[in-house]
Amino acid sequence: MAFPGTGKIWMNGKLVEWKDATIHVASHVVHYGSAVFEGARCYATPKGSACFRLDAHMKRLQQSAKIYRMEYALGLDGWMNAVLETIRANAMKSCYIRPIVYRGYDSLGVNPFNCPVDAAIILWDWGTYLGKDALEEGCDVKIASWSRMAPNTLPALAKSAANYANSGLIKMEALTDGYSEGIALDVSGEVSEGSGQNIFIVRDGAIFTPPLSSSILGGITRDSIITLARDLGFAVTETSIPREALYIADEVFVVGTAAEVTPIRSIDRIRIGAGRRGPITEALQRAFFDVINGEVPDTHAWLTYVYPEESTLRAAGSAPRIAGAHAR
Ligand SMILES: Cc1ncc(COP(=O)(O)O)c(C=O)c1O
Repeated sequence: MAFPGTGKIWMNGKLVEWKDATIHVASHVVHYGSAVFEGARCYATPKGSACFRLDAHMKRLQQSAKIYRMEYALGLDGWMNAVLETIRANAMKSCYIRPIVYRGYDSLGVNPFNCPVDAAIILWDWGTYLGKDALEEGCDVKIASWSRMAPNTLPALAKSAANYANSGLIKMEALTDGYSEGIALDVSGEVSEGSGQNIFIVRDGAIFTPPLSSSILGGITRDSIITLARDLGFAVTETSIPREALYIADEVFVVGTAAEVTPIRSIDRIRIGAGRRGPITEALQRAFFDVINGEVPDTHAWLTYVYPEESTLRAAGSAPRIAGAHAR
């Protein structure tokens, strides 16, 4: 869906109208993909608007910037406050949050050092990523003909714009071939991840997911699902997964900030398990949605509430019902 193009964008500490938040076409990032970014979500819970794992997202942004030698003078608290301030300035109840750090305008050439390191925070409404029905019905995916990045080429642990050139190839191929998503292998032929999601399989009641060394992004949803699965008593193992293990798994699901927890019902037209959401996927989905919707105690301290007056009401024991709460 096209942007409605309303609201304010945070640019280097200033709130700028959406239409004025522009950069020069000769900015380094436009030519060389020199940006790192984040994708987080703020949910409208019955106890008020809350960002999910905002600290982990902003920490990963700082780490991505560190890998690319981009220094931006804002600490973790500064980043978190900037996000909260931008949500408040736009009076949003729920939104997708996109902070980005990029090499700006000075001169062009591969050497980025003369170009300033600039930053922005953009917010917009983003519903279900893989289709409204996919959360229950599951989606149909293919193994991509493109591999994820080889080790020591483009760093997979940095959430950099450059990595999404590869993701774009995977996604376009999948859509062109009639699937909703592509799952990529790493250069050794082991399962890596989707174009924008981490992947899990379930076999004989146990849960497996590729390790960080399989060229994946260290997903914050992945980490949350591992934690919730262990809370529920499931064994979770991070291990190399051969391609064919996907086809014979009892359940497969993908996770990510955009995709949340989405079941996979077929891969390369091979039916996975019963061809619909499996019971363990459903249990993990429920556990995840209960946390993000504020319906269970936040035992892992994953939620950061946005509006102080709502926390005051919470403390007084009269939680307001927010209109438009995430409908799940
Ligand atoms: C390539 C890739 N892998 C995994 C993920 C999941 O990461 P997270 O759960 O932190 O959103 C994303 C999401 O941005 C991604 O783009």
